[in-house]
Amino acid sequence: MKEKLEQMRAEALAALSDRGLDPETLRIRYLGKKGELTALLRSMGELPPEERPAAGQAVNALRVMIEEGIEKAKKERAAASLEKKLSAEKIDVTLPAPAASGALHPLTAVQRELEDIFCGMGFEVAEGPEVEYDYYNFVALNIPEDHPARDTQDTFYITDKILLRSQTSPVQVRTMEKKKPPIRMISPGRVYRSDAVDATHSPLFHQLEGLVVDRGVTMGDLKGTLEIFAKQLFGEDTRIRFRPHHFPFTEPSAEVDASCFACGGKGCRVCKGEGWIEILGAGMVHPFVLSNCGIDTDVYSGFAFGLGVERIAMLRYKIDDMRLLYENDVRFLSQF
Ligand code: PHE
Repeated sequence: MKEKLEQMRAEALAALSDRGLDPETLRIRYLGKKGELTALLRSMGELPPEERPAAGQAVNALRVMIEEGIEKAKKERAAASLEKKLSAEKIDVTLPAPAASGALHPLTAVQRELEDIFCGMGFEVAEGPEVEYDYYNFVALNIPEDHPARDTQDTFYITDKILLRSQTSPVQVRTMEKKKPPIRMISPGRVYRSDAVDATHSPLFHQLEGLVVDRGVTMGDLKGTLEIFAKQLFGEDTRIRFRPHHFPFTEPSAEVDASCFACGGKGCRVCKGEGWIEILGAGMVHPFVLSNCGIDTDVYSGFAFGLGVERIAMLRYKIDDMRLLYENDVRFLSQF
């Protein structure tokens, strides 16, 4: 018995110090129902009664030693695996971030492209307030009291005299009040109209205004400027055409079309079979507007134009629903 115990003790010590052995396997091997120590304990009944107490004590001591050894091995294993997990999951906050995949919003990209084209022709960028006086948005632009553009259905009024600008044209007036000719300015920005949201309308959208005032400015200058603009935007083969129109602040006025960049003018889905795509409104600045701003109409003349940035962006990127531009769905935005 004593020898058996000694031998088991030596083996157990060796097994416990072997870090490769699973502590649970050791527990089953020694302390399980069919374990070696359990068997030894059972065989105690065969000993003469006077030897049992000492043998019992020795077996118990061995059991305690094995139990403690297993407990210790389990704790060591748990600590080691936690350590491994922690070091694998460690985040080094000082590392540089992965390359950012941000990009310009299509509206921003198109607005910058438009600005680049006009700045290349010597235009300056001007800004005006979005909350505007009725005077700048309408009165100074020769829009009389009863003009349909003043209808509250179209314009968000804040008070009788203050509104959310419905166009970027008030920046023409603000610019002419501040600056003497020669003037060559563009003014991109938000405008507001109380329109219901659909694929081609939004109560908030963007326009880009253009204004040139100098001695001897003619409709030929307007045409030449817009032709260069259209070619730079849509390609060298692009042609433009003027259709007579009416704006209160220009006379004569025109709507300007560009030949379809998709089919070259033959007619396709992009231009709805027309061969032409409307891109902006334009005209010669009405003499009333010039004199409202203190500019001598005997000396100076000018032209102005206004375009919808969303419209150009939708054409440029083949977007068929304007709402996509405002929803900020990453799946949409990441295509640009
Ligand atoms: N302000 C006009 C609009 O919103 C566009 C325009 C600007 C037309 C300048 C002519 C000259 O429809």
